[in-house]
Amino acid sequence: MSSSILITGGAGFIGSHLVRLFVTKYPQYNIVNLDKLTYAGNLENLKDIENRPNYSFVKGDITDLQLLRNLFAEHKFSGVLHCAAESHVDRSITDPLAFVTTNVLGTATLLLAAKEAWDGVYDGKVFYHISTDEVYGSLGEEGFFIEETAYDPRSPYSASKASSDHMVRAFYHTYHFPVKISNCSNNYGPFHFPEKLIPLCIHNIINNKSLPIYGKGENVRDWLFVEDHVRAIDVIYHTGKIGETYNIGGHNEWTNIALVKELCRQMDEKLGREKGTSEKLITYVKDRAGHDLRYAIDATKLKNELGWLPSLQFEEGISKTIDWYLANTEWLNDVTSGAYLEYYNKQYS
Ligand code: NAD
Ligand code: DAU
Repeated sequence: MSSSILITGGAGFIGSHLVRLFVTKYPQYNIVNLDKLTYAGNLENLKDIENRPNYSFVKGDITDLQLLRNLFAEHKFSGVLHCAAESHVDRSITDPLAFVTTNVLGTATLLLAAKEAWDGVYDGKVFYHISTDEVYGSLGEEGFFIEETAYDPRSPYSASKASSDHMVRAFYHTYHFPVKISNCSNNYGPFHFPEKLIPLCIHNIINNKSLPIYGKGENVRDWLFVEDHVRAIDVIYHTGKIGETYNIGGHNEWTNIALVKELCRQMDEKLGREKGTSEKLITYVKDRAGHDLRYAIDATKLKNELGWLPSLQFEEGISKTIDWYLANTEWLNDVTSGAYLEYYNKQYS
């Protein structure tokens, strides 16, 4: 069965892996990638698949209702995989409105365009909203987020994502609109923009620059290899139930300081540096405002109902990730020039 699927934000980190998976695994699907190409969007992330016959790219903004109407009319999408977002917590602290605009207004606009186009005929249609575990707030030393955990977002980023999740659910309850939502933990892997902890540290270790650790480095994140995340999205898109939410996580908790030390250890080995060299770059800096202490996902529902499990152990995943960055220094140098330097100096001065 051939069908057209709209993927938003497909030039970003997770979106590009999702586009690659769907374009290569499902040649019968026509995949349209709609992306505004903000600082975080990069068509270089899709070089290897850009000429595939079942792939096309449209530069545009998800807040542009007329553009969305035109795209739905032209392509008759039966599915939407909604990845586009402002995604960096630190940027949301300095510019919250950008997050409200794209994450809240953009999601509502996309829902509206899909609802208009599908016009009550929802058989075989799916609107899949890709969200985050940060909507659940911050955990203490124990416990896990489950699908029923009450929302308690604490940064402008997570508040905007929580708001978009609520809007998606409101469309389900009000219009019986065919939605699915997943809330995932921290991703890592190739094409991760180096404003986020792991790629930022890899980039700085390569360049012998300091490794900024917020506060005492005791905050905990649950890390998942990005290819495992998009595999989960594939499973949920095709076999998950309409109206349901699925948590996705790696069962892989690390304090930031332990994680950065592991990065240093592996990179010293790979770069042929003396053991302990990179750890000396660790620098404790001012804490992030409202810094959530711990995120940890219970992904039992996804495992029991849809049979998904992460495929990679962290040490292996991080080793693959470092190897990718070492082999793609041109990509890294390109994205860390220009506007990135301005952002970096402002954030870490
Ligand atoms: P990213 O910042 O790397 O990519 C976002 C993409 O969206 C970029 O290509 C950007 O150009 C595009 N975009 C931004 N505003 C747009 C707009 N108004 N119209 C069209 N395109 C726009 O983000 P990511 O890390 O790949 O995250 C993707 C999604 O997954 C987000 O919704 C995020 O909340 C969610 N998520 C991310 C993680 C993670 O660890 N990175 C974990 C769980 C969930
Ligand atoms: O949990 C899912 C979320 O994970 C996603 O929804 C977000 O889009 C994604 O950016 C990520 O959010 P975090 O804030 O957890 O990721 P980040 O890489 O920015 O930070 C990870 C941890 O490292 C966090 O505790 C803050 C800390 N940190 C981060 C940076 C950039 C530092 O100590 N120093 C830094 O320079």
